Amino acid sequence: MNKIFILCTVIVVAAYASPDSSPDLTDSVGTTTSAQLDPTITENTVLNTNYSQGQGTIEDRTKLAAKLFKDYDKKINPDDVKVQFGITLVDFHVLEETNAIESHAWLRCVWKDPRLQWNAEEFGGAGLLRIDSDMLWKPDVTLYNSADPVNMINCWRQSNVLIYANGEILWVPSCKMLTRCHLTLKKEPYGEQVCGLKFGSWTFDGFALDLDLYNGKKTMDLTDLNNSSGFEIVSTTAEKTNKMYPCCKEPYPSLTFNMTIKRIPGEELIKKW
Ligand SMILES: *[C@@H]1O[C@H](CO)[C@@H](O)[C@H](O)[C@H]1NC(C)=O
Ligand SMILES: *[C@@H]1O[C@H](CO)[C@@H](O)[C@H](O)[C@H]1NC(C)=O
Ligand SMILES: *[C@@H]1O[C@H](CO)[C@@H](O)[C@H](O)[C@H]1NC(C)=O
Ligand SMILES: *[C@@H]1O[C@H](CO)[C@@H](O)[C@H](O)[C@H]1NC(C)=O
Repeated sequence: MNKIFILCTVIVVAAYASPDSSPDLTDSVGTTTSAQLDPTITENTVLNTNYSQGQGTIEDRTKLAAKLFKDYDKKINPDDVKVQFGITLVDFHVLEETNAIESHAWLRCVWKDPRLQWNAEEFGGAGLLRIDSDMLWKPDVTLYNSADPVNMINCWRQSNVLIYANGEILWVPSCKMLTRCHLTLKKEPYGEQVCGLKFGSWTFDGFALDLDLYNGKKTMDLTDLNNSSGFEIVSTTAEKTNKMYPCCKEPYPSLTFNMTIKRIPGEELIKKW
């Protein structure tokens, strides 16, 4: 169970499917934009990282990667890790027959791993390493309210991470998610409906792994949203919840992102005709 995918900021691109087709999370969806080029990344002041870093020469990077990963055990988590988590919704598709929503999103995860720190001066000024995410430990944040018990969250797993000299890591996998959302839109075709995405670590409590909204942002990022699904997003909200159990003193944090959706009137009429 420790192999849950980590979600970072996700731009959601919903694959086009007719409402009566059964949800299929294995469809691949092309993403044309790069999360790493998203200018909002430079707004990130979470750990005061200077994001304009050189990568040095190929020799510098080879030496650096050899040093960083020499005794690194990716199975072992760093102490007291704080994960900042945000969502960029790229697309969503309402599956009315099954009361579900399929979302395609970029999940933005930022955390710090002190084992992956270095002095850029010693590596020709290389302050940034872009490397296969499979090389390192990643937080097991997953979608709690997934409607698909096997592919709780379906991400492009081979996506690179960016590692900065201060040990800060930025990972932005592109993911597809299926969530249940009881839709009452049929009875009131133009009413609004709230659907939520709830994320949390699968195994860690809040003392070992704390989860917070990326830069404290209490919304989803919709700047890259593809509005072609016949529904529009009226608003989004996000909040952190710490769940406590009677047995224990440690909190169990989760992040809920709600989206309020509404049918775009014209599209429904066009379909009827
Ligand atoms: C937006 O959605 C439409 C219909 O689902 C699709 O044809 C198009 O490729 C999508 N655009 C992007 C940028 O994903
Ligand atoms: C960020 O780092 C680059 C490369 O080391 C440097 O040129 C630039 O001045 C730095 N920017 C800030 C705001 O410190
Ligand atoms: C796309 O959706 C966003 C969010 O609902 C909205 O602000 C924007 O106006 C829409 N764009 C178009 C072209 O409909
Ligand atoms: C999300 O929606 C649920 C159900 O409507 C509600 O209980 C929760 O408070 C909402 N959370 C946010 C952050 O809006």
